[in-house]
Amino acid sequence: MLPTWYFDEFKMAGVDFEDIAQVEAYDRNQTVSTPEKEQALVAQLGIVSGQTVIDLGAGTGTFAIQAALAGAQVHAVDVSQAMLIYAQNKSETAGVSTLQFHRAGFLTYEHQDNLADVVISKNALHILPDFWKMTAFLRIAALLKPGGKFYLRDVIFSFPPAEYQAAIDRWIEQVAKPKGQGWRWKILRCTCERNTVLLFGLLRKC
Ligand SMILES: C[S@@+](CC[C@H](N)C(=O)[O-])C[C@H]1O[C@@H](n2cnc3c(N)ncnc32)[C@H](O)[C@@H]1O
Repeated sequence: MLPTWYFDEFKMAGVDFEDIAQVEAYDRNQTVSTPEKEQALVAQLGIVSGQTVIDLGAGTGTFAIQAALAGAQVHAVDVSQAMLIYAQNKSETAGVSTLQFHRAGFLTYEHQDNLADVVISKNALHILPDFWKMTAFLRIAALLKPGGKFYLRDVIFSFPPAEYQAAIDRWIEQVAKPKGQGWRWKILRCTCERNTVLLFGLLRKC
């Protein structure tokens, strides 16, 4: 039983990934997480048959599916039911059988399998407030077997705090794409306003 003051990670921040239209748009707009790129990452991380892999904030499951296709026992963890359903449909199409889905998050996932050879989290940790990122790191460390690997990919800002407005505007201009070609300005702006800035305090120090 969690204490009443514990952060409720199921109350989504940022883009509403409980909305299936947003989930479909997310998967459509993915350019950094394609099956080919995730397959290469699986190889880079040395994921092979028989290993245990946990993907925290697994989203539409592109990485988790590739890790399962390599023969690993994979746990795809996400707070969004819509994301999990979408990922499960994709995994059925891909014909993988070693992938399990869990509706949970960094702060609530209870692992019931062997300790992990690899824990991965891509573009999800920024959603937690800074204090709770520390809690997430402690929980991730406890999921890993000795010598296990933690792979983190996320947005990291590096600029003097007083320059935040210009720096975030600059970032949006750099990454926003025209309609149909990826993340658009409106969505990025919404993401920034609501949660991405939370990254600033913690990850810059890592
Ligand atoms: C930007 S998506 C990234 C998905 C995937 N990792 C990728 O690289 O494409 C962020 C994901 O994190 C999930 N998420 C948000 N808060 C979370 C939390 N506290 N614990 C786990 N997942 C969370 C969202 O539902 C969403 O699926």
